[in-house]
Amino acid sequence: SGCYLKMKRPSLHMVDGVPMASTFLETTGKIQNFQAKSDDVLIVSYPKAGTMWMIEIVDCIRRGGVTKEIQTVPNLRRAPFLEIAASELLPSGVDLLEAMPSPRLVKSHLPVKMLPRSFWDNNCKIVYIARNAKDVLVSYYFFHKSRVAAPDPGTWEEFFENYLSGNVGFGSWFDHVTTWWDIREKHPILYVFYEDIIQDPVREVQRVARFLGKTLEKDVISEIVEHTSFNKMKDNPMTNHSTMPPSMMNLQISRFMRKGKVGDWKNHLTVAQNERFEEEYKQRMAKTSLHLRDEL
Ligand code: A3P
Repeated sequence: SGCYLKMKRPSLHMVDGVPMASTFLETTGKIQNFQAKSDDVLIVSYPKAGTMWMIEIVDCIRRGGVTKEIQTVPNLRRAPFLEIAASELLPSGVDLLEAMPSPRLVKSHLPVKMLPRSFWDNNCKIVYIARNAKDVLVSYYFFHKSRVAAPDPGTWEEFFENYLSGNVGFGSWFDHVTTWWDIREKHPILYVFYEDIIQDPVREVQRVARFLGKTLEKDVISEIVEHTSFNKMKDNPMTNHSTMPPSMMNLQISRFMRKGKVGDWKNHLTVAQNERFEEEYKQRMAKTSLHLRDEL
């Protein structure tokens, strides 16, 4: 019921200068002291960039194909979410990871400055996935609607403004994508674009496999591309979040596997909003060599 929804929604509060929902970093110390291992692979992104897509791709590559584990264990368990607190569905990310046998796959949305230093010390491989700002905005809005345990997004207009000013969970999209871009050559980081995978999934899966030091047969690559296609992941209970209780995520409001397109922002931003967005974008992205495509 609406009342229940209101009760459950957390608010944002600043952690290290970044707005975070209280469902994250409830135990900041525990996260900062997390002990990474050198064979951990970390998938990092700003929310809604295609994180779960990349997780599925990387997990398949590491296991050498679409194994029984991939087919029978929800992705939420195969790649624990480092900074999430315990819930009615799962123990905390840190607890899950500590109980998990190596090699581990770790999911995180943390900005560069908040990543536990053990990942740097152990030289862990990191796959960063980025997606254009406007599609992320739309996806993040609908996600907030369905994700009952996320802060209330308010109206579309309110969310639009909050997103532009970085007043949303995990902070500013601009800061996130550019700071990860800036350090990509100083560490073993593969920076991948959502739009590139949409355009040429075979090439991008091969690129990720090369980064992970895996050589895969052509038919295994095809099998992975097929298994991780939008239509397959949409109907697969191990990847579509249907294992989440409705009290945490109401898929009737908006599916997790919602659209999976490049350019859906055109159906949601008004002309005025788009102009305002572009203006801000130009300023915020003036100094970076990072270039994202918001249409193909
Ligand atoms: P949309 O809301 O635009 O559909 P994250 O995993 O970071 O939360 O990102 C979720 C977004 O990635 C959603 O975007 C979802 O549909 C999209 N996505 C997930 N799997 C995908 C796939 N196999 N192909 C294309 N898009 C995918």
